[in-house]
Amino acid sequence: MTGSGSGNGNGRAAACAPRSQVVGVGSYLPEKAVTNDDLAEIVDTSHEWIVKRTGIEKRHFAADGELTSDLGLKAAKRALSAAHLDAEAIDLIIVATTTPDNTFPATAARIQGRLGATRGSAFDVQAVCSGFIFALAMADNMIRLGQATTALVVGAETYSRILDFEDRSTCVLFGDGAGAVVLQACHDEKDRGLISTHLYSDGTRYDQLYVDGGPSSTGAAGHVRMNGQDVFRFAVTSMVQSVRDALDHNGLTVDDVDWLIPHQANSRIISKVGQSLTVPDEKVIVTVQDHANTSAATIPLAMTHGFERQLFKPGDLIALTAMGGGFTWGSALLRW
Ligand code: UT7
Repeated sequence: MTGSGSGNGNGRAAACAPRSQVVGVGSYLPEKAVTNDDLAEIVDTSHEWIVKRTGIEKRHFAADGELTSDLGLKAAKRALSAAHLDAEAIDLIIVATTTPDNTFPATAARIQGRLGATRGSAFDVQAVCSGFIFALAMADNMIRLGQATTALVVGAETYSRILDFEDRSTCVLFGDGAGAVVLQACHDEKDRGLISTHLYSDGTRYDQLYVDGGPSSTGAAGHVRMNGQDVFRFAVTSMVQSVRDALDHNGLTVDDVDWLIPHQANSRIISKVGQSLTVPDEKVIVTVQDHANTSAATIPLAMTHGFERQLFKPGDLIALTAMGGGFTWGSALLRW
């Protein structure tokens, strides 16, 4: 396994530094649900194959004219509402996306403008399915350094726009959606909020999961291409490794984990990650059946699922982990 870790561990090293606390989460799925049977009408596949190999039962596709920023904005408003904050409180917006509205400006800038937020900065992060963890790490670091006090971290995607609907090995796997969290600087002594983040990349695996287009190559958006089996294997080992690194870094063990929230790409990958880490099934959040792989949006979608069902209790230790194109992967440990 290559790649280098970047655990910040600031929670222990600098007692006076603020900690980033999650004060709101929210998500949004487009209205249009697409079942496996719907896809079986356009490619040679079946509901049985898709469920057996992936666990996916349906996905949602954005309507014509509905953009990544529309999805992200709705998730952001729900997260702000859950946090009882208005947009004026926000001084940092980071959007993790692989499917921005336009090549530039950042989708975060459009969300900032439409929210009516006027303070601080807004920019996008591109780390594919790991994007939300990368964005969370960036927001956390800026809060710890005093460069922001209240951050909106959004994962939003419209993968339906970059799927090849003649390639059954990829088009059944992905969906559109968005999720968001509000992070706020917290100065109290309680051990709550983000504990550490660990980020990794291995660019030698660029061609194993990529889009065959882009402004500098073909000029067109292109379509998702993937070596599914290699990605599957790497997803399991990398997510397991990054969670272990996070626990080791903080002197914690798997027994301390109350909830594991892995990237939602495939229920078989999620099961293998849980089994390898020896986290019991009932502590692993699984939502992939309802929305398929929404790339950077899966983790905040799963967090919202847990939050809305009041699964997370104060003091619970939550481990987030993801893997995606690049390859990129990483983890975040969070005390609820
Ligand atoms: O965020 C990371 C993003 N990507 C992922 O997480 C995906 C990781 N990879 C996977 O989840 C799995 O590799 C897949 C779900 C993509 C494929 O599952 P698999 O068990 O690795 O299947 P396979 O690629 O070995 O294909 C088995 C068979 C093949 O047919 P033959 O050659 O055995 O006759 C495929 O052509 O299944 C066929 N197949 C399909 N059949 C029906 C591939 N896609 C489909 C389909 N419907 N949609």
